[in-house]
Amino acid sequence: MTTQTTADSELPKLEEVFNPFSAEYCENPAPQCQALAERGRLVFYEAWQAWIMTQMDDIMDCWQREYLSSDFYDWEFAPERPPEDQWQNFERAMIGHSLLADHDHHRLVRKVVSPAFSRNVVDDIQRKIKPDIVALLDSLKDKESFDYIQEVAVNIPFISITRMIGLPEKYWDEFKPVVMDFTKTWNPTISDEEREAARQQCNRAIDIIQEVVAERRKQPQQDDFLSMMLKIEEENEGFEEWDVITLILALIGAGSETTMNAQQWTVYALLKHPDQIPLALEDDQAFSNAFTEISRWAMTSKMGFARYAPEDMELLGQQLRKGQMVLLMPHLYHHDPQKHAEPLKLDVKRKFDPDVLFGYGPRFCIGAALAKRQLFLTMTELFKRFPNLELMEEPERDIEVHNTIALKKLMVKTNL
Ligand code: HEM
Repeated sequence: MTTQTTADSELPKLEEVFNPFSAEYCENPAPQCQALAERGRLVFYEAWQAWIMTQMDDIMDCWQREYLSSDFYDWEFAPERPPEDQWQNFERAMIGHSLLADHDHHRLVRKVVSPAFSRNVVDDIQRKIKPDIVALLDSLKDKESFDYIQEVAVNIPFISITRMIGLPEKYWDEFKPVVMDFTKTWNPTISDEEREAARQQCNRAIDIIQEVVAERRKQPQQDDFLSMMLKIEEENEGFEEWDVITLILALIGAGSETTMNAQQWTVYALLKHPDQIPLALEDDQAFSNAFTEISRWAMTSKMGFARYAPEDMELLGQQLRKGQMVLLMPHLYHHDPQKHAEPLKLDVKRKFDPDVLFGYGPRFCIGAALAKRQLFLTMTELFKRFPNLELMEEPERDIEVHNTIALKKLMVKTNL
């Protein structure tokens, strides 16, 4: 446990000054984040039974050298790994494959699949999702107002993932809830029944992916993500069908809530600062920087990125027990004037060095280019159709969402 110095013991308990599940945090997280960062480089947060790493240099070193585990099952409070003879599809996918595998296999997977995430492929995915996004926004043209989250943001992850993997439309109805609810399979804050329902949906989704894989094996298609994966499987020993399945689930898990959240906060930030819209949308490079700035300004993180101590170890002057969680929190200084001049100002041309919005090192976000491109495409099409779009009201924060500050709804007026 923590070794407190005399100065530390005079401070109020950390839980009294930092509580990301409070309404105050959701309205203005900066003071609480600063109070946490001032406590030290590695701070124990009793409410979550987790260590928090607060300094950017330490976080980047941890990302780069990967001396902590990323495997959820290494967490001291993780559910028991079931014995192999009781595995269903879900366990088969979640244990030991693809991006959820040990370091060596993870690196092999990242290396062999990297061509499937190249600029050309992202250009191609952009072409495939554009008609859906155009149709979605066109369907809103007669409305005087709408909730951007319900009408647009919730649909974008599904459109992107299904188009990216080339899932035939006949499976869409069954697949949609999985994309929306996948992260519930490991959400500790919901009931066992809800988690189990999400797990069963996921089992069915894996059946569907297997059916589509079998179809593609018989009839490979050109420029298709799944066909590309099967070619990679054929050419690389050690990369097998379960790696393909797990990779698709990882894309769903890591690319759904992040995208939905990014959609709502980007629209909110730009509508609060209409002068920044043309600068942000100049081209995809300008947008890439603008999105980092929007994320800094919005400061929506609550929990950061989880890692687990692989053994009893000393780290940054603290003694860690095997299995303890370490949360990396690169967002704590987003509104610190020492790090960012005029931090409350949204300036989409602000320079970032380093820019770690999508992580760093071996586990850098594999979907970063795709995430930025789909967001850029949606924003461009949105403001083309609705050049006078305005916020209708200040949106209320949803404090129930456990890992991010989300908006309950985002009502906009079209002014056409
Ligand atoms: C705004 C949207 C997004 C943001 C801000 C974001 C951010 C990140 C970050 C910071 C990481 C590293 C996490 C860590 O170190 O623990 C990560 C990993 C990952 N992201 Fe994203 N992401 C976004 C969208 C997406 C999308 C759209 C996809 C896929 C379609 C995706 C797929 C992944 C995957 C699979 C990983 C794990 C990579 C690995 O372990 O090698 N992300 N993301």
